[in-house]
Parts: sequence; C-alpha cells; structure tokens
Amino acid sequence: MNIMKILETMDYGVAPENTDAALAWLNDHNKKFGLFIDGKFIHNNKAKYFYTYNPATGEKLAQITQANSQDVDTAVKAANIAQKSWVQLSGFQRAKYLYAIARLVQKHARLFAVLESLDNGKPIRESRDVDIPLVIRHFYYHAGWAQLLEDKLADYEAIGVAGQIIPWNFPLLMLAWKIAPALAAGNTVVLKPAEYTSLSALLFAEICVQAGLPKGVVNIVTGDGKTGACIVNHQDVHKIAFTGSTAVGRLIRQQTAGTGKKLTLELGGKSAFIVFDDADIDSAIEGIVDAIWFNQGQVCCAGSRLLVQESIADRFHQKLKARMAKLRIGDPLDKSIDIGAIIDESQRKRITELVKLGVAEGAELFQAETTLPKVGCFYPATLLTEVDTAHFVAQEEIFGPVLVSLTFRTPSEAVALANNVRYGLACSIWSENINLAMDIAPKVIAGIVWINCTNQFDAAAGFGGKKESGFGREGGIEGMYAYLKPTYEKNLKPVKAQQVFELKSPNSNAVVDRTPKFYIAGKQVRPDGGYSQAVISAKGQLLAHVGKGNRKDIRNAVEAAAKAVAWTNTTAHNRAQVLYFIAENLSLRSNEFASNIQALTGATATNAKKEVDACVQRLFYYAAYADKLDGAVHAVPLRGVVLAMPEAVGTMGIICPDENPLLGFISLMAATIAMGNRIVIIPSQTASLTALEFYQILQTSDVPAGVVNIITGNKNELAQVLADHYEVESIWYFGDKNGSEMVEKASAANLKRTWVNNGKARDWFNNNQAQGKEFLNHATDIKNIWTPYGE
Ligand code: NAI
Repeated sequence: MNIMKILETMDYGVAPENTDAALAWLNDHNKKFGLFIDGKFIHNNKAKYFYTYNPATGEKLAQITQANSQDVDTAVKAANIAQKSWVQLSGFQRAKYLYAIARLVQKHARLFAVLESLDNGKPIRESRDVDIPLVIRHFYYHAGWAQLLEDKLADYEAIGVAGQIIPWNFPLLMLAWKIAPALAAGNTVVLKPAEYTSLSALLFAEICVQAGLPKGVVNIVTGDGKTGACIVNHQDVHKIAFTGSTAVGRLIRQQTAGTGKKLTLELGGKSAFIVFDDADIDSAIEGIVDAIWFNQGQVCCAGSRLLVQESIADRFHQKLKARMAKLRIGDPLDKSIDIGAIIDESQRKRITELVKLGVAEGAELFQAETTLPKVGCFYPATLLTEVDTAHFVAQEEIFGPVLVSLTFRTPSEAVALANNVRYGLACSIWSENINLAMDIAPKVIAGIVWINCTNQFDAAAGFGGKKESGFGREGGIEGMYAYLKPTYEKNLKPVKAQQVFELKSPNSNAVVDRTPKFYIAGKQVRPDGGYSQAVISAKGQLLAHVGKGNRKDIRNAVEAAAKAVAWTNTTAHNRAQVLYFIAENLSLRSNEFASNIQALTGATATNAKKEVDACVQRLFYYAAYADKLDGAVHAVPLRGVVLAMPEAVGTMGIICPDENPLLGFISLMAATIAMGNRIVIIPSQTASLTALEFYQILQTSDVPAGVVNIITGNKNELAQVLADHYEVESIWYFGDKNGSEMVEKASAANLKRTWVNNGKARDWFNNNQAQGKEFLNHATDIKNIWTPYGE
C-alpha cells in the first residue's frame, strides 16, 4: 500500500519488525540446539530432535533436543553439585549475578522479543512491550531479594534443586518467574521449557554464560511431557514448580505425594470480568480487549467470562462488537497487529471444537468479518452470548480468543456467578463506585483482583490462584517463601509411635461413666455408625468410650464448617476476643485438663501442667496475631496501589499430632481459627478424650457453632475422607509418613492446599517450630488487589 492510499483510507500500513538478528542467531547454531547442562551446551550424537515452528507461517525454525531420563539425571547431578557452593555465596554475591542477568537481557531485549514472537506467534508489540520488560523487572527485583534474604528471611534457607516446568504462552516470562526467585533464595534449577517454545530459554542459557553464572546453577533441558515427568520423578529434585494445564498439575500433585518435594502449581482459570452499570464503558471495552485478546487469549488469567449488568448488556455487547471489528489479526511481526497466531494446530482445533460446542449448546456466535492470513495458525476474536452458567464453554478454559458473556442483576448475583467455576485465579471488576468494587473484591474467590484494569503483572505482587487454579504464589515475598524452608526443618526426627496402653483390669470401671460425643455445628452429636472405642489410661484403666467417626460424621462436620462463614467475615478484633476468652476458660480449668493429660499419657504432674500452661500461652499468641497479620501495599510501577490482603483459606481439615496431645490440638486450632478459617479437627487418638471435653470450653467462650468441629476415631481413615472431600479447601496433617502421602495424593482431586509433616515430629513446646509465620502463612491466602488511580 502506498502512502497516498494510506492517507485516503486512513488504514494501517505494514510495519514489519526486522527479524535478521534472530534468524542470524538461529543460523549461528545451525538451527539445531543441544541441552544446556553444567554451564555448557551438550550435543549428544544419539539424541532425538524435534522441530520448533513459527506458528504464523508454519515454517520450521530449528531442531530441539528431546532430553531423556539420563539427560535429566545429568542435569540434576550438576544442579546438586552447584547448589552446595551457590548457597554459600553471600546474598550480595548472588544479587550481583541476578543483576548481571537483568542487564544482559535488557541489552538484548529486542533479540529476545523477536525470537519470542517468531517461536510463539504473539504480536511483537506484546513481546517487546510486555513480556521482555517484565522479565527484566523480575531479575532486578529478585536481585534485591538475594541481597535482603538475611535481613528479612533469616529463619529460612534454600530448598536445594528446583525442577521447573513451564508452558508455551509466556515462554521467557515464565522462565523468569521461576528462575529469578529460585536463584535469589540459593537454589539451583533444572528448567524445562514447553516443547513449542524452547528458543528464548536457550538464548537465556547463553546470557547465563555471559553473566559468568557458576556452572550448574541454571540447567535447561528441552523436551515434551516425558522429559517433564523425568524431572518431577527425580529423587534428587527437592521442589517442583509447574505452570500449565490443571490436568498435568493434578498428575504432578499425585506423583510428588509423599516424597517430601515442595510443590507450587499455577494452573488454569476461567476468570470473571465483571462490568457494573456505572462502569466507564469505553474503558471497560478496552479492558476486555486486553483481558481476552492479549496473547490470543492464551493466558491462564484471561478475563474469559464477561459478566455484564443486565441493564447495560445490549449496549455493551454492541460496542464490544464494533470494537472487535477493528482488531487487526495477522503477522505477529507486524508492529501494528493486535492478534497474532495460535501456538499450534492442535490448540486451534481445540478452540474450534469448543466454540462449535458452545453454539450447539445454544450460544450465539459473533466473529467480526476479518480475513485471516492464508497460511499459519490463526483464530478470529470471538464472542459467545446467550450463554448459560451450565454450558461447557461457561465453565471450562478455552485458552483462545473466545469470550463468553453472561448477565447479572445485582452485585451479589455477580459474585455468585464469578465464583461458580472450579477455578479461582483472577477477576476484573469495573465500576466507577470504588466502594462497590472494594466490597466485591474480597468476596470473589481468586488470587488476583484487578479493579478498573486487567492483566497487570509485576514482580513485587504475588500471582497465583485458589481452588483448581492451583496453590502457591509467584512474585513478592510470598513467591520467596515458595523457594525456602524453615531452618529447623532439617533437624526434625521421625515421629515415634505413641505407646498404646492396654486394659489391665477389665473389671475396673471408669470412676464416672464418661461418654463424650462429637462436637459438630456447636452441638454434641453421637457417632453416626454407632461405634465407640475405649480410652485406656496409662495405668491401664478404662477412662471412657469415645465415638468412632465415619464418612457421614465428617460430611456433617464439613457442612457445618462450610456454613460458618460469619466467622470468616467477622472482624479480626472479634476473633481475637474469642481466642482470649478460650484461653481464660482453659486457664480456669487447667488442673482438670492437666490431670486428664497425666492419666492419658502417663506424664508427670509437672509436665502435664506445663502442657496446659503452654496451651494457654499459645492461645494468647494467636489471639494477639488475629488482628496483626497485616497485609501490604506493594510498590509496583503503576500509578495506584496493590493491596496484598491475607484472607482465610476457608474450610480446613486438621489432623493433629500424637505427641503432646493437647498442645498439638490447641496449636493447630488456634492458628487456623485466628485467621478466620472454619475447621474439622481430628485429635490424636490419645488426646481424643481431652479434645472432646474441650467442647465445653468452646461453648463457654462464645465460639460460634460450626467454627470448630471435633471428630474422633481412626486418624488416617478420617484424614482420607477429609482429603477426598471437595468442600475442604486445605488439609494440615501431622501424623505418619503413609498418612502424609495419602493426604497429598487424595488432595489432587480438587487440588486442595496441603501441609503435611512427612512423618517428622516437631517439638510443640518450641516456639520456633510450633507457632509463628509458617503457621500463619499456611492458614491464609494472599489476595492481590490492583487499584489504579486517576481519571
Ligand atoms: P500442558 O500442561 O500439557 O503443558 C505445560 C508444560 O508441562 C509443558 O512444558 C509440557 O511439556 C509439560 N508437561 C506435559 N505433561 C507433563 C507431565 N506428565 N509431567 C511433567 N510435565 C509435563 O499444557 P498443553 O498441553 O501445552 O496445553 C493444553 C491446555 O492446557 C491448554 O489448552 C490450556 O487450557 C492449558 N494450559 C494452561 C496454561 C496456563 O498457564 N494455565 C499454560 C498452557 C496450557
């Protein structure tokens, strides 16, 4: 098109990005890449290769090595050796390396951007202005964390070798999200890029060499899911960080169960984009463009579900369709293209099929009239209206440029719709009424909320989800915790089996016939199954019979806990008061509880008294913290604020340790309810009697019904039922190794958060091990709420 023509039509001309440097780089490598292990590229004659393509043209770009289990083993060995000296460096020394990497990526920013767009098909505008600047920011930010580790996280240390598996939608950005915090914390890494997009990771490997990074600190192994599985299952990998599909995330949760490997999962989403009738509609329309057509909608936190208030829905849809008609789709290397190529034909096929399914289910389809490029893998911007909540397309991630739209009438209906999916990653809220937006933000089940903005990211603000969007956060201090473990952890010894006392004199009756029942929904409840088990004292006397809980009892208890949301929504001040009151009432009856402990465990009178005193102290500790776990205001490069708000995880299952029966029970109960969770708690078998008698204290201390539900019985059997239960959002398990594995494995079904002890005993009297930040972190989720300023 000549200039005169452009002036006539006012249409865009072509603005091609120069690809010479990126193609020259490929040529320098003969378009064939080895693995980056122990500081150098390894080419194995027997290696298998696969091609990486430019999805916009279908052209082959290069050959990539398919790493096998031996390659992964070599990489893991190199990483383990390197970690020993990497962790010994001072924070300042590690900071210098991370800073050097940031600087070098900055110097080669355009090469990275072009290579990324070639390999992934994303518009150069995005790789140049979003992906690569965020990568650089991530390394700068984490250079800071390396430096400040000793200051701010002194009680924590590196985990070891991190196995990192990333997807193809933000290849270099996901690499940065994984590698920067891992290295800052003193870990070394074995990273596998997605098979469609390995190139920028391989260029990054060269940056590591240029930065003089010690060999073995970063290892890049390329390959498909089989290579990923080798990393996941390698016994000398100590942490797995995965971003990708929920299905593979679930598999990884199962495979790592019981291995002691730490795990963070960033999975899929079906995030709501809520537009209230008082929103600035034109801004919201631009927001939608960024929410669902950024990166062709291949974004885990894409605002793929438009929820628009009924009164403005028609006008909104009209404007949206007009805007869609203006979106430019085509060559990703054209600087004025809005929508680039879909990653691969298999994904395009999936998108096509899901849209067809949506239409078959009754949705109305809108696609603006655009001519798609004749070659390459493209899919037009798509809107599905007349969608019902039960439709597949309203529930499942399409992972393409497809927006589904539903309407709502009231704010509470908007919240109900937003939360009516199995995912919980992000949400955008559009309203000119900030009070309304700030009221909705905490009610939405999601890790990230954007108010009057969308798809904002920064290294200083944690990113991650709830429900089946996974667990763990990347970015911010939360992201650093994911690559650290408490220093005391390495010294923990295996749990010792508690002595089981036998009935010595069958005829010796309990002094008073005690038959404590379960405590569910604030009431004493008989066991559903009608079975009881004897509680025998250390002296061999029958003390009481306690109930043997079953599946139904757990179900009732979970239902009660799930209903007790008023506890989560009440003020922290109220929760603190209740905890102080529990402490006061326990203190009043300390002699009685001490003699119970004495009888049950054979502890001396002094030790039993010591345990009750420690319980009272611990209750005071968490009462103090109930209103002091403040959030944060993150310093992100945005005119506005990002509020990091700690919130309750929700309904939790707690399985108590056998050692220090009452103190273990109180420590876990107090930490979780102080943060607003509602719990179903299984006391240790030895403590069952004391724990059940504790209900009297709960009742006299104004603990609302359903906040604490106590069921006794076979610990691991009940833990299994809790782990299988879909309404339980998190489980803490303190028991044996097998139980830990079972809990992690079963929790994969709904991807609940778990915290298990892997059969290790902690000292419940030791404040370092038995209370504090670690407990509070496990009892809360951080929600990051982005609120820009300005007109
Ligand atoms: P995927 O989850 O299979 O792939 C992500 C990464 O995991 C890749 O590096 C892959 O090689 C690796 N992987 C695959 N199987 C593995 C295994 N068994 N063990 C270890 N690593 C394994 O995602 P895929 O097949 O590329 O895309 C399928 C769907 O997943 C998409 O349509 C989308 O819905 C979703 N997805 C979500 C992403 C997100 O960021 N939430 C990113 C990519 C895909």
